[in-house]
Amino acid sequence: MEGLEVSSPEFDLVVDLVGRLKARLIAKTVPGSEYTGWVTLPTDMMRHLNQVTALAEEARRRADAMVVVGIGGSYVGARAACEALGRGVDGVELLWAGWSLSPVMTRRLFDSLGGRDFTINVISKSGGTMEPALALRLLGEYARNRYGEGWIDRVIVTTDPSKGALRRWAGEHGITALDIPPSVGGRFSVLSPVGLLPLACAGIDVAALLSGALQMQHVTESNPLGDDPAVLYAAARCALEQQGRVVEVLTLPGPELHQFGEWWRQLAGESEGKHGAGIWPSLLTLTTDLHSVGQYLQDGRRMLQETFLAFDEIDGEPLIPASAPVADGLDLVANRPLGLVNRIALEGTRQAHRAGGVPGVTISTRRLDAQCLGALFYFFQVAVALTALFHGANPFDQPGVEAYKKSVKARLDSLA
Ligand code: PA5
Repeated sequence: MEGLEVSSPEFDLVVDLVGRLKARLIAKTVPGSEYTGWVTLPTDMMRHLNQVTALAEEARRRADAMVVVGIGGSYVGARAACEALGRGVDGVELLWAGWSLSPVMTRRLFDSLGGRDFTINVISKSGGTMEPALALRLLGEYARNRYGEGWIDRVIVTTDPSKGALRRWAGEHGITALDIPPSVGGRFSVLSPVGLLPLACAGIDVAALLSGALQMQHVTESNPLGDDPAVLYAAARCALEQQGRVVEVLTLPGPELHQFGEWWRQLAGESEGKHGAGIWPSLLTLTTDLHSVGQYLQDGRRMLQETFLAFDEIDGEPLIPASAPVADGLDLVANRPLGLVNRIALEGTRQAHRAGGVPGVTISTRRLDAQCLGALFYFFQVAVALTALFHGANPFDQPGVEAYKKSVKARLDSLA
């Protein structure tokens, strides 16, 4: 941890408090404990993995694309893993619907479906969210025109096991349906069928994803009171926030992790932003954003803390050629992997930002693969839940989201 006095009695106190909160999280004695099913989800999902992979195999046989309909926690985790890891050898392409109300993106989606066979995975815990509901209307009409009344055979629903309009629809029409455990909320559901089915369809090794998460689950559970990386990270965020560092920048090593950053942003923002408190989550992508907001980080208002995400192993490819079309002054890196320069850029940036007065931490993991990504998903879930609990908030509700929903509904009702 840099720019933070980690051996101070003040920091030890925060670590101690966060460690105690972790013990209560595991014992299910925290606010919102009825939604802590995600803590043991890696263990639980290992038992259901065969069902998910069998369905994915069938979907891959039927079509070369799958439209995933969902918003918030019902889509962004799968999208994050898909973009970070890339499609597997036998995987279908995943296309995304219901994550906005943009007519432009909706038209582009239909354009990209022309002439291709596709299946549909509709994901909604409540079964009644406006964006995916409208996307399903539009996509349903498009699919009926393409496939006739049998279009619903191409649909898999992922929703609450007993409640909601989607569950009823699936029951009435014999549509294949997967359960989202009632004790797992949207933004904590990436390791449930919400994330696992689309990812298995995309040919991603979901067993490895779960096993990485399971390793972190064991770290969390094996030493309830002691410090683990998630406790230390949560404590660092809380201690820095107490020093006025109310905005956290998650700095990502490349654009392939942008959606992972979006997943983290939703997880943190919706879990922590309550009762006038919480850290505002923002993103920086290396090295792209050094040419946009880098100036602000280095030299702007000092209310920032920064968390670097880093991978220890460097990709061997591509190698930088020895010859250059122009005299670029970069012969020193000839025949070296591009990833090495990216890593050096991360280290240099970190040093510069620390020197410029932005404290924070670095989260390092082995490499960008399914196992490490699973561990990261779990790690951030624990750390964010603990941060919200430290603020005295229930991490698992989102009462503030209702305000905009009510206001939009009132306007829609006035269309009558
Ligand atoms: O974390 C949450 O609970 C939310 O972000 C939900 O995932 C999001 O609002 C979508 O809800 P639903 O899955 O009910 O359609």
